[in-house]
Formats: sequence, C-alpha cells, structure tokens
Amino acid sequence: MLSVRDLETRFVTRRGVVYAANGVSFDVGDGEIVGIVGESGSGKSVTISSVLGLIRPPGAVVGGSAMFDGTDLLKLPGRALRHIRGARIGFIAQNPFGALNPILNIEAQFANVTRAHGRADRATIRQNALEMLKRVGIAGPERVLDGYAHELSGGMAQRVVIALALLLNPSLVVADEPTTALDVTVQRQILDLIAGLIREGRRSMLIVTHDLGVVAQYCDRVVVMYSGRVVEEGPVATVFTRPLHPYTLALLRAVPRRGEPIQALGGRVPDLLSKPVGCAFRHRCAFAKPRCESETPEIRPVASTNPLGRTVACHLDVEREVPALAAG
Ligand SMILES: Nc1ncnc2c1ncn2[C@@H]1O[C@H](COP(=O)(O)OP(=O)(O)OP(=O)(O)O)[C@@H](O)[C@H]1O
Ligand SMILES: [Mg+2]
Repeated sequence: MLSVRDLETRFVTRRGVVYAANGVSFDVGDGEIVGIVGESGSGKSVTISSVLGLIRPPGAVVGGSAMFDGTDLLKLPGRALRHIRGARIGFIAQNPFGALNPILNIEAQFANVTRAHGRADRATIRQNALEMLKRVGIAGPERVLDGYAHELSGGMAQRVVIALALLLNPSLVVADEPTTALDVTVQRQILDLIAGLIREGRRSMLIVTHDLGVVAQYCDRVVVMYSGRVVEEGPVATVFTRPLHPYTLALLRAVPRRGEPIQALGGRVPDLLSKPVGCAFRHRCAFAKPRCESETPEIRPVASTNPLGRTVACHLDVEREVPALAAG
C-alpha cells in the first residue's frame, strides 16, 4: 500500500540545518494499521508530512521515495499530490479546528472536498455528507451541516474531520495524533470510531501517537522512531512483548499505564542540528559500545524473527543481549 524508503527531510533554520528525517523506511500493508511512536522531536510528524507533500520551506524533502499504488508521492507535482490526498489518501490532523474552515459552514466543506475531485450536484453532496456524518456517530447531522466549526465540541469537530477524510473512500488514512487535542473522555470514542471505520472498509492506516497503549490496542505493526530515524519496526504483539532495541525497551518501561503520554526517560533527545554520526541513542543507552559512537547502525532484519518481519537498527546482538537487559 505505502512503502517509504530512505526518506530525508531537512529544515534550514537560523540556527543551522535541522536533520529531521534521516533515511526513514517503513511499509504499510493492505488492511494494516501501523503506528509510529517515539518521543517528542523524533521526526514522526515530519515523516508523515513529507509523505503527504505538506513540508513547506524552509523545509524540504531531499531524498528517498514513498511508493503508493505504484506512484512515488515524493516526485509528484503539487497538484497531482493534492489530488491523491483527499481522494485516495485521507488525512486526519491533530487539531480539528485547524483542519476545518472557520468561515464556511460544514456543508460547504463537504462540497469543497467533493468538487476538488469530481463533479456532483448539491443534493448528492448533501446526501453523501449526511450519510457520512451518521456513520461517524453524529446525531442530528442536518444541524451540523448547516452550522460552523466553532459551534461544535472538540469531539464533534474531530468526527466531522474524520467524515471529510473518509468521504471519498480513500484506501489509506494518515492520522497525526488524532485525539491529543481532545478531552480524555472522548479520546477513546474517537479512536474506536477511526479504527472501526478503517477495519470495516478494509483500509490501511498510518497513525502517529505518543500513546503506546493506543498502539497496543489498535495497531498491527509499530514503527519506533528516534532522532529522525527508525530504530525498530515490527508486529506490535512481538515488539511489545520482546523489544529488541534498547530504546524500545526504555520506552515500554517508561509507560506504566495506557492513556498517558510517554514519560521522560533519562537524558534528552539529541538536537538534530548536526547530522548524527553513530547511534543517536548511545548517550542514553547503558549498553553502548565504542562502535556505537563511530558507526551509524543500519536497520536490518533480525535473523531468527525475520519471518515475523522484524527489523532493528542496533549494533548489539539484540536477540541475545536485549532480552538479558530486559530481565536484568
Ligand atoms: N517547520 C520547521 N522548522 C524547523 N524545524 C522543524 C520544523 N518542523 C519540524 N522541525 C524539527 O524537526 C524535528 C522533528 O519534528 P517533528 O515535529 O517531526 O517531531 P515529532 O516526533 O512529531 O514530535 P511531537 O511528538 O512533539 O509531535 C524537530 O527537531 C523539529 O524541531
Ligand atoms: Mg508531531
């Protein structure tokens, strides 16, 4: 469905070049829900914005590919990408009020999305919009359609954004922290809603979240990012029960309960103002070796678990050494 390889994205700032994505690779299979996790600043949003063509100067995607249904999204001109985004790839942003237009009523926003991708008369648009709003659990969809974003609660507004994202029946949905702007009481409802619609439509989803509990509950595979790189990737069930990268292990240990953000680990995420040499996690890794300082670990399949599709970027003999760490 989506295959990202060696993605490199940078920002030129007054303080210097920010190396935000440094060779990021991962896949989202048909019908899969894939989660991207990692601490703040690890490059999660930059990665999905790059794939969606939403990086603006002073940022730029400088390398890599993102194949979607045989097309490299990174090489598409803006118009063609905008066409795919919306029709074949739906996007659910973190803040629904930022995603909705404050001065157009909700019906007009359904009309805009529909007409950006084809023709439809007003009655059809309204009919489809009403149906979508019902599917996302909005009672009284007529009133919502005739109203404006500011009249909605956060949860309702995010439901509208979800309805807009799914309106044209995209095969892939990308969501960046789709519930962090919402009340905790509605976060689960919204996630249940999104996951339900994805599964029921046999769509694929890529979801960025801070919450490992969300990944455990909703995702098939997980991509763990650190400092602009993927450090570990694989099926949630095995990554969470048997992490192979010391960073994944640390993340899992730092989260005692679901529904809470990742707690600070010891040490800090390195700044990305120089291209990292060696393993970026080495300063916080109790098991770093001299080699970790000089050589950047490439992401590699793990021999005995490879049938499960696990990869890890670490110089340790992860299958032997990391479980020993976890036990000790
Ligand atoms: N517009 C920008 N200009 C300069 N640097 C940026 C810009 N956007 C992102 N960055 C930098 O890129 C790096 C990765 O940022 P990104 O937003 O992808 O992190 P994230 O993993 O999504 O974090 P969070 O969990 O806080 O959302 C950070 O160092 C950030 O400061
Ligand atoms: Mg982010």
